[in-house]
Amino acid sequence: MSTPLARVANALAIMLCTTAALAQTQSLEMPPAPQASSAVSDPALQQRVERGRYLAIAGDCMACHTAPRGKPYAGGYAIESPLGTIYATNITPSTSAGIGNYSEQQFARALRQGVRADGKHLYPAMPYTSYAQLNDEDVRDLFAYFRHGVQPVDTAATATALPFPFSMRVAMAGWNLLFLDNKPFVPDPAQSQQVNRGSYLVNGLAHCGACHTPRNVAMAEKPGQRLAGAALGPWWAPDITSDPVAGIGGWSDAELRQYLTTGRAPGRGQAAGPMAEAVSNSFQHLHEEDITAIIAYLRSVPATGGGSGRSEKPAFAHEGRGSDESLLRGRASQNERDSLTTGAALFSANCASCHAADGAGSADQSYPSLSHNSATGALRADNLIATILFGIERKVGQTEVLMPRFDAQSYVNQLSDKQIALIANYVLQQYGNAELQVSEADVRQSRLGGARPLLARAQPFMVPGMVLLGVLVLLLVWVMVRRRRARQAR
Ligand code: HEC
Ligand code: HEC
Ligand code: HEC
Repeated sequence: MSTPLARVANALAIMLCTTAALAQTQSLEMPPAPQASSAVSDPALQQRVERGRYLAIAGDCMACHTAPRGKPYAGGYAIESPLGTIYATNITPSTSAGIGNYSEQQFARALRQGVRADGKHLYPAMPYTSYAQLNDEDVRDLFAYFRHGVQPVDTAATATALPFPFSMRVAMAGWNLLFLDNKPFVPDPAQSQQVNRGSYLVNGLAHCGACHTPRNVAMAEKPGQRLAGAALGPWWAPDITSDPVAGIGGWSDAELRQYLTTGRAPGRGQAAGPMAEAVSNSFQHLHEEDITAIIAYLRSVPATGGGSGRSEKPAFAHEGRGSDESLLRGRASQNERDSLTTGAALFSANCASCHAADGAGSADQSYPSLSHNSATGALRADNLIATILFGIERKVGQTEVLMPRFDAQSYVNQLSDKQIALIANYVLQQYGNAELQVSEADVRQSRLGGARPLLARAQPFMVPGMVLLGVLVLLLVWVMVRRRRARQAR
């Protein structure tokens, strides 16, 4: 790094405290900030620990390896994978419950090849397919940080127990053979150093593709459709290729920078759900030159049109069509939610206080306009529905952004699937992509965690399917043996 060491260390220390405080993925309650577990006296090692600290933030290890209200990196965070719940493990330097016994080689193998110290395979819920790109220096410094910069916690995280056949970790060896590209990052000589740095971050450490790249039936990222948009449970991580219509080609560099570092770019979109978490925990803390490199690289990612289908104009380009508020004035029932039966009335009662009756938002846009908003103008209504159901929680610097959730979590703001569908359709009609229709079933599916991929839907049939296959094989053997006997008898 070119900046003077002391300044870097200082900035990192502040950054770490803030990140630790922000690391909660499900609530804004703050966990204690991680402290150096042992005073490191060797200045060279200290330097690596500090570098590792930044890399851990850029890689967002905290997001998964810290449970809500849990100790930093002590694991236990439940990842609701479509195949079942996978618990992130304790990666503190505890020798009994964490990775205190890992050698640097074993740590590197876990990070880049998805193999634990005991030789068992990790599930790709740990994004080792992205971290496979990490270079030796970064792995070494991450190791130094997780050995010397993190407080050991001696409590083991909840163990993962997926249903058969996904419980067979050895199956991941076959999966890796097919889908793991385990070559470390090789810079593309045709691209600038900046674009190469961006590629290393986007595809490797910051693993944008883990969310934004569509997956095949075996749940591996499709290499031909890099960053073309993908479903994440009830959320949709949009196309962020250079495509001017489907992707972010129409965003300026300044807008992208603002979005990545604060979670909002007026007239373009806001970060909710998993993107809000990534901004809160990780991207807001990245060095300016790293953000610049990420943007430079995104500009170079070719449009594939893969995940998003076709459209005439970008998601953020939809103009508002005004308000039906005047039709509602003077109605006695306006505040009694249960008696509201139209989207316009429900919108007026639940949303207009912040987003204004005409959907134009507040003057300073801290309550954003619902037109010129990628959540309402997209080709899919996932993020609109999910935002109404689950709200928004994001903390950047000292600023907290909150939109209430309207699912059953709080009695006051409880809306039924039907009511949410009515509101969503009203919002789409008035302010967004009027061609979309949201059904009650769409809202129910989102409430339950989104569409399940084929592999997960097939799970209940796999055991009977394997039994059936076994019986067929036995039958075949039996027929062949009888034939041979008959031939010998002749
Ligand atoms: C998207 C979630 C996610 C992120 C981000 C993530 N991990 Fe993990 N990690 C997991 C899960 C889940 C497991 C356990 C998987 C399993 O049990 O198969 C795991 C396991 C591990 C293990 C194996 C530990 C053991 O139990 O033996 C190591 C080491 C590890 N992670 C390090 C890291 C580091 C370092 C980072 C950041 C650079 C990181 N992880 C980021 C989800 C994540
Ligand atoms: C944990 C999953 C996750 C990760 C990691 C992630 N994103 Fe996102 N991203 C999302 C989701 C979900 C949205 C939609 C958010 C919304 O509209 O509220 C999104 C939205 C965006 C948008 C706005 C697109 C639009 O049209 O509104 C941009 C730009 C973006 N992400 C860039 C990135 C970059 C660059 C990275 C890596 C440095 C990244 N994301 C990493 C999940 C993720
Ligand atoms: C208490 C104020 C408040 C209420 C009530 C409210 N919102 Fe929001 N809404 C917000 C804030 C704050 C944001 C995010 C601003 C940001 O990210 O910078 C937001 C963002 C959104 C977004 C963009 C989400 C994305 O992923 O980009 C949509 C769509 C939305 N609201 C729709 C609604 C609808 C529909 C209702 C009524 C059911 C509603 N809001 C009620 C405050 C509110």
